[in-house]
Amino acid sequence: MNQRPRNLRRTAALRRLVRQTSLSPDDLVMPLFVRAGRGVRNPIASMPGQFQLSVELAAREAAALHRLGIGGVILFGIPPRKDARGSGAWAGNGVVQQAVRAIKDAAPDLAVITDVCLCEYTSHGHCGVLRGGEVDNDRTLPLLQKTAVSHAEAGADVVAPSGMMDGAVRAVREVLPETPILAYSAKYASVFYGPFREAAESAPKFGDRSAYQMDPANSDEAIREIGLDIQEGADIIMIKPALAYLDVVRRAKETFGCPLAAYSVSGEYAMLRAAGERGWIDERRAVLEVLTSVKRAGADFIVTYFAREAARWTA
Ligand code: PBG
Repeated sequence: MNQRPRNLRRTAALRRLVRQTSLSPDDLVMPLFVRAGRGVRNPIASMPGQFQLSVELAAREAAALHRLGIGGVILFGIPPRKDARGSGAWAGNGVVQQAVRAIKDAAPDLAVITDVCLCEYTSHGHCGVLRGGEVDNDRTLPLLQKTAVSHAEAGADVVAPSGMMDGAVRAVREVLPETPILAYSAKYASVFYGPFREAAESAPKFGDRSAYQMDPANSDEAIREIGLDIQEGADIIMIKPALAYLDVVRRAKETFGCPLAAYSVSGEYAMLRAAGERGWIDERRAVLEVLTSVKRAGADFIVTYFAREAARWTA
């Protein structure tokens, strides 16, 4: 018995010394839901502690997050009106475009990421335009281009195409050569998006997203999707959800070695909150353990609805 692994676990100081993974506020990105109006702060029932905010309150929140040292925010919009093409997505004075300007004003040094997708803006709730009851990939691309350009013009630091349309990263890169692209490269058709769809009012009105989002059973396909996005010009790749896909996070980091994010989605938040609220789990420790595991798996940063709390707990 020459090797005694317990030796290094004996004191907190020794454990700290050899700890491999650390979590800091810089690694956290907070999603914000923005809607039209003033003074709006609508609680989201399936995500206790999360709100739909009007533009000025979103800007105030972003400034507070910046003071906590958080890495960035990612914005989702709930438009006043929806239509078949999702035209609210690229409206120059759309809710996300307004929010970007207000946040860049209130906290110029905070990274502002925008979600580039049509599902919150289409009357049918799908992530692209429809033809014959299916999402038409190639007719959706120009709409994503317009949306991304309008976000960049408003001042977004990073644009994030999230609809799993083939060629979306190339399309955005063509029109925005100098804006960082965060590609939702491996986005699975996951049940864990349920609470988000209430928050963003974006549930599909018929069918589901399995014809464009990935089959949870596949990981080779994730590697192929990520490889394509990198060729098309992605600067950062993202795996989503996080907790049920840590193997994919690890494999992607080892295969590509490029900046990598993981999105700990609404259902992951809801599960931890629900168990925490009932006193069935120590919420703070559970959240920090989960976020640490996502970093340990290989993520450089994490999009999480716990960003505010976790930033306080780790500061
Ligand atoms: C699509 C989008 C979705 C999420 C982020 N961007 C959901 C979907 O496919 O319905 C989910 C995020 C979450 O669950 O937290 N625009």
